[in-house]
Amino acid sequence: MNVIRIAIAGFGGVGRATANLLLARRARYRQVYGADLRLVAVCGSRSGLADSAGLEAGRLDALEPGLTGPAFIDASGANILIEAGPSDFRTGGPGLAYIRSALSAGRDAIVISKGALVHSGPELRALARSSGAMLKLSGAAAAALPTIDLLEHSLKGCEVLEIEGILNATTNYLLDAMMNQNLGFEDALARAQASGFAEADPRNDTEGWDTASKLILIANFGLDADLTMDDLVVEGIQSIAAHDLETWRKQRLVPKLVGSLIRTDDATRAAVGVRTYPATDPLAHVSGKNKAIRITTDAMGETIAIGSGTEPLATAAAALKDLEHILTARAVRPTGVSGGKE
Ligand SMILES: NC(=O)c1ccc[n+]([C@@H]2O[C@H](COP(=O)([O-])OP(=O)(O)OC[C@H]3O[C@@H](n4cnc5c(N)ncnc54)[C@H](OP(=O)(O)O)[C@@H]3O)[C@@H](O)[C@H]2O)c1
Repeated sequence: MNVIRIAIAGFGGVGRATANLLLARRARYRQVYGADLRLVAVCGSRSGLADSAGLEAGRLDALEPGLTGPAFIDASGANILIEAGPSDFRTGGPGLAYIRSALSAGRDAIVISKGALVHSGPELRALARSSGAMLKLSGAAAAALPTIDLLEHSLKGCEVLEIEGILNATTNYLLDAMMNQNLGFEDALARAQASGFAEADPRNDTEGWDTASKLILIANFGLDADLTMDDLVVEGIQSIAAHDLETWRKQRLVPKLVGSLIRTDDATRAAVGVRTYPATDPLAHVSGKNKAIRITTDAMGETIAIGSGTEPLATAAAALKDLEHILTARAVRPTGVSGGKE
C-alpha cells in the first residue's frame, strides 16, 4: 500500500480538527485511494510530536517541548505539509517559513492560514512550480465555500469577467444583526463578542482585511493575477451609521460587505466595501454566518455558491478536500511526490 506521510504545523483549533478528521478518514483513504495516510508530525509554537509509524488520536494531547519549526517538520519525512498557524498578511506570519521549506523540497503544501499566501503568493507559486510540488489553499480562501475550486474545475476554460464575494462570516452576521435587530455597530459587535462569534480584536474582520485577503487569494491563485493589498481599496463596516441603516431599511436594500473584482482586457480591479442588494438578488439572502460567491463568466453566465458549515470542522474538511485532490492528481501522475510502498 502506498504510504503518504502528513505533517501539521500550527496545532490550535483548526490544526487539531484537521488531525482528528484525517485520522477518522484513514479507512476511506485506504479504500478510495489505496493509500495508508499517516500523521507523522504535529507542532505548535513551542512543542510538537513526531512518529514515522503514525500518530494516533489518543497521543495528540501530549506534545513535547522543543519539537517545532520548519526543520522539525522537514525531519519528520512528511510528503505533505498542512499549515494551520496564525495568519499575518503584513509579515507572512510563521507559516511562511514552513511553506517555503516544504515547497522548496518538493513537498506538497495545503495552506489554511492566509498570511503567507497574501504576503508572498507569487514567490510561493513560483517555488511550487519549480519543484513540482502542489500548493492548495481551500482552507485559506473561504474554507467551506468553494472559490478557487469553482474557477479551477467548474468554470474551467471560461473567461472570468467579474467576482463578488461575501467572504467574511463575522461581518455578515454583524450586518444582519444591525439591520434586523436595530443595533448600532458597537452593540452588534459586543453581542457577537459575548457569544464568541467575533474576536476580542475584530478589526481584521470588521475593517475588511480578511475579505481583502481572501479576494487576493482567489484572484492570484484562481485567476493567475498578481494583486497585493496596495492594489485594493478596502473599506469595512465599522463606520456604518444609524442613518445608513435607516435609509437601507426604507429602500428595502440589504447591505453586505463584499469583495469585488472586475477584469478587463488590460487590468484586474479589486475592492472591498459595503454594497446593497434588492431582495430579488440571491446575495441579499445570504444571512448570518453564511458566505457566498458570484462569478460571472463569458460563456457560463452567473454562477453562485453559498456555504458555511460549523467551524473548525468545516475548515478542516476544506483542507482535506485539498488533500484528496492531491491524492487524485498524484495517482494519475505517479512520478510526483507520493509516499513510498510499504
Ligand atoms: N478558526 C477557523 O474557523 C478558521 C477558518 C479558516 C481559516 N482559519 C485560519 O486557520 C489558522 C489557524 O486558526 P486557529 O483557529 O486554529 O488558530 P489558533 O487556535 O490560534 O491556533 C494557531 C496555532 O498556531 C500555532 N503557532 C503559532 N506560532 C507557531 C510557529 N512558529 N510554529 C508552529 N505553530 C505555531 C499556535 O501554537 P501555540 O498553541 O503553541 O501558541 C497554535 O497551535 C489561522 O491562520 C486562521 O486564520 C481559521
